[in-house]
Amino acid sequence: MSPESSGPALALPVLDEELAARLRARLVEVEEALSGHIQSEAAFVTEAARHLMDAGGKRFRPLLVLLAAETGPNAASDEVIHAACVVELTHLASLYHDDVMDEADLRRGADSANARWDNHVAILTGDWLFSKSSELTADLGPDAVRIQAHTFSRLVEGQILETVPPASPEVALEHHLRVVAGKTGSLIATSALYGARFAGAPREIEDALAAYGEIVGAAFQISDDILDIASESDESGKTPGTDLREGVPTLPVLLVRRAGRPEDARLISLLDGDLSSDEALAEALVLLRAHPAMAEARAYVVARAQEAKDLLKVLAEGPVRDALEAFADVVATRTA
Ligand code: IPE
Ligand code: IPE
Ligand code: MG
Ligand code: MG
Repeated sequence: MSPESSGPALALPVLDEELAARLRARLVEVEEALSGHIQSEAAFVTEAARHLMDAGGKRFRPLLVLLAAETGPNAASDEVIHAACVVELTHLASLYHDDVMDEADLRRGADSANARWDNHVAILTGDWLFSKSSELTADLGPDAVRIQAHTFSRLVEGQILETVPPASPEVALEHHLRVVAGKTGSLIATSALYGARFAGAPREIEDALAAYGEIVGAAFQISDDILDIASESDESGKTPGTDLREGVPTLPVLLVRRAGRPEDARLISLLDGDLSSDEALAEALVLLRAHPAMAEARAYVVARAQEAKDLLKVLAEGPVRDALEAFADVVATRTA
């Protein structure tokens, strides 16, 4: 392996070898910085926070910060690395809380914190990580703090709205897209924005990348929800079928309900019923995987990825734009 190709694997194909090597080297810096940031004076807090940090994760958001930073003159600044840590810590914190909400046992291929310890530890460790991320954001100045606070309120609003039924069945899809934008689009938009901003990119590029991140983030979440149904293994490091079992609405299920086909009566009654037994869940998954709603949901994600790519026309053609396009494509077609 040449020195240029060493370092962590990137969560997207970057064809330009020089760009790929720069991103890998900076991701190593991010990783080292993250490890320092989650040191607490209380050994147990460090252990609980390290648990999921060390378990893996794609580091998709910090990678987007680093890639977006390539559009500005100061891509290698310390502030860019710092911003990459802020978004990963915010994300990590949200995973601790999310697994409590979703009663998930598996995360990043490891026991979730709620399964390993209990809900109290998971919630408080998530809180601690959020406060660490706020502390770091303060080093980036008041505008960054405002952006981070707004991002966090959107993320939490999204998570809360997911637990609230839509005002009526007619607005179920709209409600769901609002949830997705809040819980996932917000932080991925901020990742792209922070990268552009802390690398000193012009305002026009910052705005375009924030809008791109918002759309890519929503597409990422919907792809993830499709995988929860389509995936037949726990290759993702999570347990497939968790959304169905917990009754978390996702796009394919909403599309099945909207289609309201008579032949879906069995599937809908399973979805409305108790999916705690493995047999009932397996039957619902088989029916859902064969339903045209899956292709419809995939087509929606591909269309959104195209919309995101169209926003990149403000960038000069070249490896960075190509990589951002590839990023949107990977999100739309991910299989893990
Ligand atoms: C999981 O995010 C939560 C969603 C928004 C679907 P990731 O898929 O980025 O999780 P990690 O960081 O790779 O574990
Ligand atoms: C992802 O939650 C959003 C946040 C963590 C804020 P989900 O419940 O949709 O994602 P997974 O499938 O558990 O990763
Ligand atoms: Mg979850
Ligand atoms: Mg959830």
